[in-house]
Amino acid sequence: MSNKIRIRKAVFPVAGLGTRFLPATKANPKEMLTIVDKPLIQYAAEEAIAAGVEELIFVTSSSKRAIEDHFDKNYEMETELERKGKKQLLELVRNVVPKGVSCVYVRQPEALGLGHAVLCARPVVGNEPFAVILADDLIDGHETPCMAQMAAAFEYNRCSVLGVEEVPHEDTDKYGIVKSDPVTSELSRISSIVEKPKPAEAPTNLAVVGRYILTPRIFDLLEDIPKGAGGEIQLTDAIAALLQEEQVLAYKFHGERYDCGSKLGYLQATVEYALQHPELGQDFSRYLQERFGEDGGKIAHLFKRA
Ligand code: G1P
Repeated sequence: MSNKIRIRKAVFPVAGLGTRFLPATKANPKEMLTIVDKPLIQYAAEEAIAAGVEELIFVTSSSKRAIEDHFDKNYEMETELERKGKKQLLELVRNVVPKGVSCVYVRQPEALGLGHAVLCARPVVGNEPFAVILADDLIDGHETPCMAQMAAAFEYNRCSVLGVEEVPHEDTDKYGIVKSDPVTSELSRISSIVEKPKPAEAPTNLAVVGRYILTPRIFDLLEDIPKGAGGEIQLTDAIAALLQEEQVLAYKFHGERYDCGSKLGYLQATVEYALQHPELGQDFSRYLQERFGEDGGKIAHLFKRA
């Protein structure tokens, strides 16, 4: 390995159906649901790019063409905006994929789970460490986006790093749960990991969120593991096997996570991002105050970090 290893590639598993948002997701991919004025998948892509990623690898399925269109050039739109002299909007549209960044699309032919989706990206990732981002988990990292924080931890430690946070104990059956020994205040060495344990069986409440940096050895392990929870090929099971061979670190990121796979989390993210929005924030905060009186004022004040 060269002296400095950077994460150049990020995998976005986007083949899932998104049944929790039906009927909104009948014809529209769940990753295209919008928080204020950007689809979830664009937030995920921007987070990867901020961490130095140059190649965005989307693992898609037949109903997800809108994602490809979103990251493609739209000549008609650009010509129209140019003709009307709308420079700012033109920049916005052109910068969805900044210069130096490329997109690759791989199909996941069957819904066989997250592990299988990641394995589908193997021919494009090749033999180098890579990031995995689940767009459902929207993370506001404040100054430093979550994946950039994790990439720094990776560059220093040169091993797989999983983004984690503590969740209410009754929610352990929604996540991969890790047991780990502290190394620093943010990092701990994972000794075991289990997919969606019942609260009574969960070793801890430290949950893996949708952020991973993985060494390429994970692909060999994904090829070999049997189907796990829910009859799917689980990334968590392959990470459990990886642990037997390599160090894997858990990283407690700085920032707020919104579970945009749930309606409540999606609404919370909408409110928070609207309050932080440079053009909209003030008006929206005023609206909350008018609508909810003193309480709205307190809410708006609480949210005003930007
Ligand atoms: C997936 C993973 C799980 C992880 C979670 C994070 O589950 O299988 O280990 O904790 O993402 O959001 P899903 O939410 O796809 O059921």
